[in-house]
Amino acid sequence: MSNGGGLLQGLFISFEGIDGAGKSTHINGLAQAFRAQGRVVTLTREPGGTPLAETLRAMVLNDAMDAMTEALLVFAARRDHLRQVIEPALAQDQVVLCDRFTDATFAYQGGGRGFDLGLLSVLERMVQTTSIDTADLVRQPDVTVWFDLPAEIAAQRLAGTRVPDKFEAQPVEFFRRVSDGYRQRMLESPARFARIDANQTREAVWRDVLAALQGRACLA
Ligand code: TYD
Repeated sequence: MSNGGGLLQGLFISFEGIDGAGKSTHINGLAQAFRAQGRVVTLTREPGGTPLAETLRAMVLNDAMDAMTEALLVFAARRDHLRQVIEPALAQDQVVLCDRFTDATFAYQGGGRGFDLGLLSVLERMVQTTSIDTADLVRQPDVTVWFDLPAEIAAQRLAGTRVPDKFEAQPVEFFRRVSDGYRQRMLESPARFARIDANQTREAVWRDVLAALQGRACLA
């Protein structure tokens, strides 16, 4: 984000939504838009973004496990990702575009699977605490773009497009609970969230994504 003197600072943007909400093309478009404005962009994802975290991702997406194991693995992956990729990139004033972050854990493991939200908050604080200039802060995205799409429509969009992973194979009620989880997170941090109506044409969604980031002075 530009500061008062016009110098560029690190900017951390996460992208969220239920499976089928259509994040990917817009994340790639934004990477191009930021690069066109001279920014260095790190494009990454969760779970994943480092060799270790990608190994954990394959387990989380494919292997059967209970909700606590899932939560611990995604937070372990997140810790490695933060230390190896996100914090160093922000320290170099880069733009970090991250396909999913902790709101996904609250939505999927919390909302979808019903795992204890208080425990997720404890893990969030532990894993995301970082030291900047000797002061501790709990790292959060500067902006979270939430692609909000009704679960029924996401299911129609996904039907037959590819072999579903463990989450994509869940019934529509699971995704209703995931959406409720995202909505709850937005209510808790309204300034951080940009909710995008994803039930529109791709062009209209793109226009709204650009407007949301321009309105927050992230993009010119
Ligand atoms: P997704 O981001 O949709 O990638 P792709 O487009 O390759 O399918 O897949 C990641 C899945 O992991 C998605 O179903 C949500 C799930 N997930 C969690 O359950 N908890 C988490 O904390 C994160 C980051 C993702």
